[in-house]
Amino acid sequence: MRTVLYSIVLVSLLAFTADRKDEGFVNSNFSFVQQQLKFMLKETETRNKLAFPRTTDASGKMTTTNMYDWTPGFFPGSLWYAYEYSKDPALQQEAVAWTEKLEPLKDFTQHHDLGFMVYCSYGNAYRLTGNKAYRDILIQSARSLSTRFSPVTGSIKSWNQFKSWHGDKRYYYPVIIDNMMNLELLFFAARETGDTSFRHIAVTHAATAMKNQIRKDYSSYHVVCYDSLTGKVEGRETAQGYADNSTWARGQAWGIYGFTMVYRETKDPRFLKTAEGMADFFLDHKNLPADKVPYWDFNAGEKGYEPGVNSNALKVTTRYRDASAAAITASALFELSGYVKGKEQKYRKAAIRMLRTLGSPAYRAPAGGNGNFVLMHSVGSIPHKSEIDVPLVYADYYFAEALQRYRASL
Ligand code: GLY
Repeated sequence: MRTVLYSIVLVSLLAFTADRKDEGFVNSNFSFVQQQLKFMLKETETRNKLAFPRTTDASGKMTTTNMYDWTPGFFPGSLWYAYEYSKDPALQQEAVAWTEKLEPLKDFTQHHDLGFMVYCSYGNAYRLTGNKAYRDILIQSARSLSTRFSPVTGSIKSWNQFKSWHGDKRYYYPVIIDNMMNLELLFFAARETGDTSFRHIAVTHAATAMKNQIRKDYSSYHVVCYDSLTGKVEGRETAQGYADNSTWARGQAWGIYGFTMVYRETKDPRFLKTAEGMADFFLDHKNLPADKVPYWDFNAGEKGYEPGVNSNALKVTTRYRDASAAAITASALFELSGYVKGKEQKYRKAAIRMLRTLGSPAYRAPAGGNGNFVLMHSVGSIPHKSEIDVPLVYADYYFAEALQRYRASL
């Protein structure tokens, strides 16, 4: 009896110590996120009011985009996560101000990224404040995004056109795996309004992607191009990955996150199976380094994978890592670990390992360095010769979200 009691006390003590260690890790990293955001806010005061942080230039200085690029929602989103953690009213005030700059986006229809742009900003704003004006902007944005859906292709068109790396061929109905992320906005709008068409579009898009974009081994094609009149697949290529048949690390991360989220919203086991398969492909891959931050493409430089003749990937032999892919995957795995049976610990431990690597000096910037971004060593697009081995605003956003999910799970 006494031995049993001792064992229980010992196990509880160990769990308590582990939780304290985890809490310490989350707290110190959130404090760092907060500190870098405050430095960045200072820097933004010297810039155009409608310039949104994105990455750094060759001299290490912050560079920005306008609101119509795909990333303006991540800076306000990071401010919301930092506020959620700290309850610092100054951060809330900034989060509100940066979110509200994006209001014109509610009527934007020129590409599919509206989900990223408004759900990371206004979605978090509504979740944390309950301000009904934000809900209305989200719903109008969902209407705008829905205009890009076609029942013929069963998909939301990502870009208005895509030029192949292989020559002059252009496609006019490209759908990229990243698009899975934009569906969250539609599920939200369906719930809030009771209008089932939003949900129908999201579920149809996810089912089409599951069929056409995911390979048998649960790796993913980056771009699937459709014939808009027949709905037939015209091509499967890559835009940001190494080769058409390779697996671009961030694309795989978007898929893991996206199908996990679609399972949360639908409880359809097909989507869970896809999320699990994609996560297992990522985590069990022979080319995933032990620290669990992937190379930018799982197959970069491998035999049997050939970049298109016009792709800059042909000239790059360095095996760059992509911290953004790890941050997105870590966040997704915290959620996925709550849905699976038998693999909870596999996914949770991998997520923690990723975060611990990202939070180490190998990836986390020195205070006030890195253009005031949090994480170093991400890759935007090697084929485009753009944003190689740099900080990226979305890497920081998903790092903060993953820290928040880690914290909530303790
Ligand atoms: N959605 C664009 C990217 O991941 O680079």
